[in-house]
Amino acid sequence: MSTTTEPGPASDAGRPEPTPAAFGPDFVWGAATSSYQIEGAATEDGRGPSIWDTFAASPGKVDGGDTGAIAADHYHRYRDDVALMAQLGLGAYRFSIAWPRIQPLGSGRIEQRGLDFYRRLTDTLLEHGIEPWPTLYHWDLPQPLEDAGGWPARDTALRFAEYAAVVHEALSDRVTHWTTLNEPWCSAFLGYATGRHAPGRREPAGAVRAAHHLLLGHGLAAEAMRGAQVGITLNLTQVTAHSTAPADLDAARRIDGMQNRLFLDPLLRARYPEDVVHDLAATLDFRHVQEGDLKTIAAPLDFLGVNYYAPLLVADGGGARTATAYVGAESVRTVDGGRPRTSIGWEIDEQGLLDLLLRLRRDYSALPLYITENGAAFDDEVHDTGRVAYLKGHVRACAEAIGRGVPLAGYFVWSLLDNFEWSYGYAQRFGIVHVDYATQRRTLKDSARWYASLIGRGGG
Ligand code: FCB
Repeated sequence: MSTTTEPGPASDAGRPEPTPAAFGPDFVWGAATSSYQIEGAATEDGRGPSIWDTFAASPGKVDGGDTGAIAADHYHRYRDDVALMAQLGLGAYRFSIAWPRIQPLGSGRIEQRGLDFYRRLTDTLLEHGIEPWPTLYHWDLPQPLEDAGGWPARDTALRFAEYAAVVHEALSDRVTHWTTLNEPWCSAFLGYATGRHAPGRREPAGAVRAAHHLLLGHGLAAEAMRGAQVGITLNLTQVTAHSTAPADLDAARRIDGMQNRLFLDPLLRARYPEDVVHDLAATLDFRHVQEGDLKTIAAPLDFLGVNYYAPLLVADGGGARTATAYVGAESVRTVDGGRPRTSIGWEIDEQGLLDLLLRLRRDYSALPLYITENGAAFDDEVHDTGRVAYLKGHVRACAEAIGRGVPLAGYFVWSLLDNFEWSYGYAQRFGIVHVDYATQRRTLKDSARWYASLIGRGGG
């Protein structure tokens, strides 16, 4: 991945406003967060340690030595945060449930105080007319499950289904839309191949097994939550070859295979993509895939969540063609597309979102789609013109996708609040609401005001 860090100019001047009318009255306008990134209260009410507590406490893993121990202190401030959401006019709030609050050991004993927190949160949301959209797993695996092998071990998928059933039983009277996993690509490949995310292991073959067990966990959880509306959130990206040279086209095929099709095909076609299985055969086999797994994984979904930040322009990188890219990214290099970048170094290109949505509709399914994350990191405290421009452009791309027949039903901005941005710590700010970490004071940024006015003008 490219790591250029100059923030781009991203001027908003003269850019047309998206037309709220394009979205229809039932379109869901929301904002998203995740448990470890905002909650803090890491040892409160019986919460057990997660792989992110362990990883963040290991020297050199997170910029600045930051951890999520306090984060945005949302665990204590959730009422005020929900009031802020209501002020913005949000129709839905996507958050994640911390597995180690519910099952501190990862299985067995249930911690009622953890469930009570999410009961209070969902009640407060409903009191304000905001629909709760929980995700069951946004990367905070209970540490005891990692100690027992983590996602490369099949048993973790079974434990996930057990946990899903517990949460479903506790909250099904309040929650309609359930998301099983957030971005299993990141859990598998950043967690077990590159080691950039918790648990920080570098075992390429283990990463591919992890991907399968995450998908299996999704399928088993969906079974365990029978009767619920269930979806999964993937981080998909539009991958383009830098040139029409066969080697570059093949680099794009490999990355598209590992990042998009390795997840979409099992979920929506009940099979792994043959070219990817073939590429990987040199380094590992698929013997971890058992009879019946793909049927479980491909159980009908009610919706698909898409997280989109930036497209990828790639070229052949020379070197060994292990094609385990991100398992062996050495064989692919990313190319600068020449566009402005956000402060985290990701290129700004809303066309990539439009192309991705059209591709999903064309190649995969007519399933309702939700953008479950989209947003930008910029340093501006309050007058965040770069973020406003980014959001406007991407919301416009959504309107165009709908106009061209994409069944897009909702959009969640990432993120409601500035928060713990994983291995970047608190240095990267994605919030539409600024958080002063010293005082925990929240301040609306211009992007929050812009988003509220979009929703208010009939977008929501
Ligand atoms: C996504 C994650 C989310 C946040 C954004 C910037 O990959 O799901 O938690 O870190 O990126």
